[in-house]
Parts: sequence; C-alpha cells; structure tokens
Amino acid sequence: MIDNPTAYWEDLWATERRYRQLTDSETAVLDRHSGPGGGRAALDIGSGDGALARHLADRGFKTTGLDCAPSALALASTGPSSTAVTFCLADFESPQFPPLTERAFAVITARLVYAFIKDKSAFLSRVRSLLVPGGLFWVVTPMVERVPAGQASTGITTAEEELLTSGWSVVRTTDMDCLRCFTLRP
Ligand SMILES: C[S@@+](CC[C@H](N)C(=O)[O-])C[C@H]1O[C@@H](n2cnc3c(N)ncnc32)[C@H](O)[C@@H]1O
Repeated sequence: MIDNPTAYWEDLWATERRYRQLTDSETAVLDRHSGPGGGRAALDIGSGDGALARHLADRGFKTTGLDCAPSALALASTGPSSTAVTFCLADFESPQFPPLTERAFAVITARLVYAFIKDKSAFLSRVRSLLVPGGLFWVVTPMVERVPAGQASTGITTAEEELLTSGWSVVRTTDMDCLRCFTLRP
C-alpha cells in the first residue's frame, strides 16, 4: 500500500513514467452517461497528464483536475485545451483536504486511481460528499483477475469492487480489455 501518495507518484512522474492512454471507447461510455457539460462542474481525481480533464472541459464541463504529484500537474498544464481546466495540487486522501473550486460536482471521475487508494471507504465517503444529488461518479480500473501476472497491485479485487459499488442507486459496468468502467449514481 502507498503511505505517502505525493512522494510515491511524484517520483514516478518526475522519472517519466507514463500510463495507459485514455481511449475513445472509454470516453464514449462517459459521454453517454454524463451528457454534455453545459457549464456543470466536473472533478477528475488523479488527473495525471490531464487527458481526461481536458476531455471533460472540451465537452463543456467547468473542470477541475486534481493530482498530488507536482510533475503530473506541470505536464497536464502544458497540454492542448489545458487552459480550460483548473488544476489543483492536493492529496485526495489527506485529512487536510483543501477547499476546491466548487462545493459540489455534477461529475466526478477517477481513472486508474482507485486501486491505489489506501482507505477506500474514506475515499468513497469524500467522493459522495462532493457529488450533487443525482450526480455521476465514473471510475475506470483494471480488475485483478485480468491484469498480467506481477501487476496485481494495479487492479481491484472482487471485494474491492463490492465496496466500490455498494450504496449507489444506479450501478452500470462496461468491460474493456482488462479495464472495467463503473458508472455510479447516488
Ligand atoms: C496511474 S496514474 C493515472 C493518471 C490518469 N488518471 C490517467 O488515467 O492517465 C494515477 C494518478 O493518480 C494520482 N493520485 C494517486 N493517488 C492520489 C491521491 N491520493 N490524491 C491525488 N492524486 C492521486 C497520481 O499522482 C497519478 O497521477
């Protein structure tokens, strides 16, 4: 488990580690469930290189990209359409979580992040507290049983999936390769 997300992820980003690119198949699912932004607020947790946050901004969401690694935010801030996104340096798991640009968000996304969260119950409580009524929480994560041997820590177990999906009024899943997309509504 990762005890200090900022130290862990900053080291990886600063040494040019990069992650599986966002695909059109993933954004098609997200777009279908979220609809056009129309100026509504969106938050991308663990925004990394900023691709998903920029996609949300391009769709008309007033978007905040949040990441704990300064090097990730520096990279994200140089991408196309990056000026449409407000990037925020923060550890989403920290008890000293700063106030965000908005009090509540219509859409919250977390792509390739959930598996690495230490206290998943606390993470989910914080997500719920930041969602507007009827909002959308969209998660993309590898599933342990489908990732190559030796990469188990990048995926979630069946028990972790049960925790993620419990207590929502709407739960939809879409499988892609080793990834599962979750569409969750309170
Ligand atoms: C595997 S990368 C995925 C990046 C991006 N979401 C993507 O899909 O390409 C995980 C990202 O989540 C960020 N992250 C992990 N734990 C975090 C936390 N507790 N608070 C904020 N960001 C976090 C890391 O810094 C990293 O950029």
